[in-house]
Amino acid sequence: MSIYSRILGTGSYLPPETVSNDELAARLARDGIETSDAWIVERTGIRERHFAADGVGSVDLGEQAARRALDDAGLTPQDIDMIIVATSTPDMIFPSNAALIQGRLGCPGGAVFDVQAVCAGFIYALSVADQFIRGGMTRRALVIGTEVFSQILDFSDRGTCVLFGDGAGAVVLGGSDTPGVLSTALHGDGRQAAILRTPGRVCGGKVSGHPFLEMDGQAVFKQAVHVLENVAREVLEKAGRSSSDVDWMVPHQANIRIMLHTAKKLGIGPERVVQTVAWHGNTSAASIPLALDTAVRAGQIRRGQTLLLEAVGGGLTWGAALIDF
Ligand code: UT7
Repeated sequence: MSIYSRILGTGSYLPPETVSNDELAARLARDGIETSDAWIVERTGIRERHFAADGVGSVDLGEQAARRALDDAGLTPQDIDMIIVATSTPDMIFPSNAALIQGRLGCPGGAVFDVQAVCAGFIYALSVADQFIRGGMTRRALVIGTEVFSQILDFSDRGTCVLFGDGAGAVVLGGSDTPGVLSTALHGDGRQAAILRTPGRVCGGKVSGHPFLEMDGQAVFKQAVHVLENVAREVLEKAGRSSSDVDWMVPHQANIRIMLHTAKKLGIGPERVVQTVAWHGNTSAASIPLALDTAVRAGQIRRGQTLLLEAVGGGLTWGAALIDF
């Protein structure tokens, strides 16, 4: 039985269409909605995002990210005995994206399920896979975050539609005698469900309720800066490490102000924070594995380094993971 789980490979995929702030502002202006590149950059750090084409879903993006993570690990789909997908924009009500991706990869037999923890979803999925591997039930897991938030955005709400983008990221997690995932922590506060949600559902063949994302941005902002610092300290303490041991912080890419504020509170300088929000926007559950893979492939993150992952999302949900990469 392996005592630890390790990241064996990373992969990501972005749909080809990019939409700059100016292009988005021009589209919104046609419907009388006013925004600007200057406002979006100043308040969020976002400069552009990717949008999936009509008919492209989160299974399509997730499959590509998974294949790239497998290639990076030097493994084939047949080496995988568990697939966990973090998503809030699945292709179907059921079966899960994990089952659909397993079908595409052609590797039946292992456990497949989705995790719904919105922007904290990847941390949740990673933590679950880590427990299964350390418990001896799983040898190698594909952990995927994939989203098409463009499909649930209300383009008449400038407070939310400028923030999100589409994409996918994945890691292969495998058993190992050396660490690996050092510690994880997961939390939630369902009393705050209303500050960030997409409340619509399918009922009797019709959509019942608002089928678009709605958010009280300031309320989420206030919670985010509070819980992220605490949960980051929690995983450091659990692992007996301090923030000076962290080579790279890989935060959920929602807002540059939240990311750098949290890092500063922890004593981590901006040069040690992976920052992809400018080019990807907020891709919810995909944002951390997408940022991780981008930084690995850019040669920033290297083997042997210590990584601090943290995220907060609808629910509210939040979590962190400390990893020796
Ligand atoms: O991924 C899950 C976690 N989500 C988050 O972490 C998001 C957390 N929240 C945030 O990042 C920020 O609250 C936002 C980026 C969403 C908003 O930034 P803010 O600094 O909190 O702005 P605000 O909501 O207080 O709005 C300030 C002003 C308002 O105008 P008035 O009332 O001052 O006249 C808004 O109407 O900015 C206006 N505004 C905009 N103006 C131009 C809101 N959206 C826009 C826009 N373009 N897109």
